This record gives sequence, C-alpha cells and structure tokens, in this order.
Amino acid sequence: MRLPYEIHAMIKDLFRIKSIDSLLKEANSQEQGLKRALTSWNLIALGIGAIIGTGIFVLTGTAAANHAGPALVLSFLISAIGCVFAGLCYAEFASMIPIAGSAYTYSYATLGEFFAWLIGWDLILEYLFASSTVAVGWSGYMVSFIKDFGINIPPQLCHAPFDHIKGEGWIFTGNLINFPAVFIIAMITILLVIGIKESARFNGIIVIIKLAVILLFIGFGISFIDTSNWTPFIPENTGTFGQFGFSGILTGAGVIFFAYIGFDAISTAAQEAKNPQKDMPIGILGSLIVCTVLYVAVSAVLTGMVNYKELNVAAPIALAIDKAGKALIWLRPLIKIGAIAGLSSVILVMLMGQPRIFFSMAKDGLLPKSFSKVHPRFQTPYITTIITGMAAAIIAGLLPINILSELVSIGTLLAFVIVCAGIIVLRIKKPDIHRPFKTPFVPWVPLAGIIICSAQMLALPIETWERLIIWMLGGFVIYFTYSFKRSKLHKKSNEDS
Ligand code: ALA
Repeated sequence: MRLPYEIHAMIKDLFRIKSIDSLLKEANSQEQGLKRALTSWNLIALGIGAIIGTGIFVLTGTAAANHAGPALVLSFLISAIGCVFAGLCYAEFASMIPIAGSAYTYSYATLGEFFAWLIGWDLILEYLFASSTVAVGWSGYMVSFIKDFGINIPPQLCHAPFDHIKGEGWIFTGNLINFPAVFIIAMITILLVIGIKESARFNGIIVIIKLAVILLFIGFGISFIDTSNWTPFIPENTGTFGQFGFSGILTGAGVIFFAYIGFDAISTAAQEAKNPQKDMPIGILGSLIVCTVLYVAVSAVLTGMVNYKELNVAAPIALAIDKAGKALIWLRPLIKIGAIAGLSSVILVMLMGQPRIFFSMAKDGLLPKSFSKVHPRFQTPYITTIITGMAAAIIAGLLPINILSELVSIGTLLAFVIVCAGIIVLRIKKPDIHRPFKTPFVPWVPLAGIIICSAQMLALPIETWERLIIWMLGGFVIYFTYSFKRSKLHKKSNEDS
C-alpha cells in the first residue's frame, strides 16, 4: 500500500537529521557567542557540584533502613555501573559534538528531529525539575540551620501549599509558599546570568566545602564504626520484594539513583569548554568515579556507625554524628553547612544545564528565536536562564519534594537510554567520523546501559509513568502545533524543494 505523498513527506520530516558537519561548524563558529572558559578541573568540579547533594545527604538513610541495610554499599555500586555505561556514551558524544544541547543535540544527529524534540522536552524533567527538587531540600536544611541560631521561619512560609496524597488526590496544605526554595533559585539565576566563569568559580568553592565535609565525616567516622552493625551484611528478605535480601539491594539501587544524577549536565557546557574533545570525557567520567568512591565510603561508614534499622531519618549523617557522642559534636554544624553548600551547587549546575538545552533548541528553530539570545556583555543565554529560573522557582515554591524527585529519575533514565541507543546508531551510520573519545566494547556497553536504565525505569511507581506520559504528550502537542513547521531543517528542505 502506498501512503499519500503528504503523509510520506511528513514522516520523512520527523526523522530528518542534522548533519554532524553542520553541528561541528556551529560549535566552532564565533557567532554562537558562548564563551570558551572552562578547564578540565572546572568540568570535574561542575560534575561533582551536580552529583553530590540530596542523594547522599538525605536518601542514604531511608534506602538503608527500608531496602538494603549495610548492603547499601552494593546498591551504590550497582547504580554506579548503569551510570558509568551511560557516562561512557555521553563522553563519546560530548567529545565528538561539543555543543550546548547535550542529549538533545546527539539525538538530532542520530535518531532524527522528532526524537531530538522528545529528548529535549524530556530533559526539562531532569534539569528544571531537579533544580526545584533540590531547592526544596535546601530549604529544609537552611531552615533547620538558622533555627540553631534562634531564627524561626513560620512553617507557612517554608512549605508547599499543595500536596498529593495517594487515594485522595491533590490537597491544599494550608501553607503559603516555600519561600527559602524560591530565594535560592532566584540568587543562583542571577549568578548564572552574570557569567559562566563567575558561576564556575562559585561552584568550585562550594564543591571544596562539601568535599571537605564528606572527607571529614569519613575520616573521623571510621574510628566510631562498630563492625557488629555490618552483620548481617545483607539482611534477610522480609517476604516482600524490595525489602532487604537481594531484591532490597536492587530497589535500594533504584532509590539512590537520584544521587548520581548530574554527571551528564557537564555535557551541556561543552560549548563553553576550552578543549572539549579532551576535557569532556575527563569531566564526565572523572566526576562520576570520584563520587562513586565517596558514596561507597560514606555508606560503609554510616551503616557501621549506626544500625541500619535506625537510619530512617531525613538527616542520616547528622544522626551518625550524634551517635558518636561528644567527640564529634564539633562536626555537626559543619555537616549542615556542607549539605547547604552541596545542595546549592546541584541547583547551580541544573539551572545552568536547562537554559543551554533551550538555547540549542531555539537555534534549531524548535523554540522561539528570542530563546537563543546571548547577553551582549555577560555572554550567557540570559533569556532562557531567566525563564528557567522563574519556572523552577514557581515549581519549588508550590509543590512537594516526593512527586518532583521521581519525575526527575524517570526523565533522566529515559535520556540515558536514548543516548546509549544513539551511540549504536551512529557507529553503524557514520563509522568513520572522528571520535576523540570512543566508548569501549560497542555495542555491549551501550546495550548494557539500555538494559540497566530501562530496568530501573520499570521499577518506578505507575503514577510516575502516568506523569511521564502526560508530560510527553504535552511535548507532542507543542511539537506538532509549533515546532515542526518552524524547524530550520523544515524551512531548508522546503527551500531546497
Ligand atoms: N545527584 C543530585 C542529588 O543527589 C541530583 O541531589
């Protein structure tokens, strides 16, 4: 059966591909306006800045207490394996196509415009929603920190007015707004408009603070480990899937996946890296390795200092310090400062990533042209930075953390799956293109990445899948009503024909 000409042409258009040559030309052209200012150290720091946050400071406790016990160490290793596979694929793409759009651009070059749009739309779930999620976590730590100095913020001003209760639906909590969360997003947005270099410097300082705090915890905590807390290392399964035993380790890995999110955000700064071919893989893989080592060490020390059954708390590291008694009391305020600093840098890198994806999408004609404006003095994509900041502030001010964080995980995993698939596709379609960094053992490494990330997606609750589908359907509507016809490739193919 032959399809009518228009439908055939439209389907062909959906899979139109942006050539790697034109992408490389764009990356090298001066008129892009983004400043090449970041070194490999800046990139590793950006990665660590984005990775270490809520995951280690908050989620470790519940993952140990409810799912894995002391075997949380293994959960961290399993989750890291999926991320390393995806990270190797990101490294190949980011060194080959060093341009701001990350997974969006990679899909445009491999799977076609429709997939590129989908992934660009999906990445909003990762970066924009992650910055809101972490801002809500930041608010919690900040409120508790200033309370230690006798300053109390009324609860109505530091909690979300809306919540979602299973079985009941959305409810109004009686609170007004999460003001501290809005405040931190506003401050970081201003910093990001002022400059990438200034932002990287600020990030560098806070990364040093959070690393110092984590190393202090590991260094001093070791002598307070009671090895009896590590037995049994893998507590017996309770009879329910995911509650201890081997399935508990896997579920724990799914829960703490959030802790690794962020290494891919470095790739959105590819266009601002001094030497992206060499430094992108160093930044992505370096930060991932450093964080994996730290996470495994922290979870070993934590479950050694406190019995896993007691760890079901929002601030597990602070609890471990308390357990050590007077000897470590001096570390308590430092832990809070480390967490506040840690969460600030996660927000910073996420709020830096999102505008750069919007920027690339606007350059391609899929979003309004004004989105691709670069500030004449600061050389930053200021319009998209401000729009992202405003959207993130509204979400953080109004919505609760649990709904946001699961959406972030599913959105990120979907991006990882598509990037891994893209590597296989491009190796087949363009085997000869210059690849400064090559993912080893293709197709096995990307295939393993696809399988592990898809399995983690399947483990997420059905409601999260429903929200993902609704979000993506919204993306379809915008693509077909706005972007499809305005795409630069569409205009070009019309002119050509
Ligand atoms: N990995 C980041 C965190 O744990 C998103 O906060």
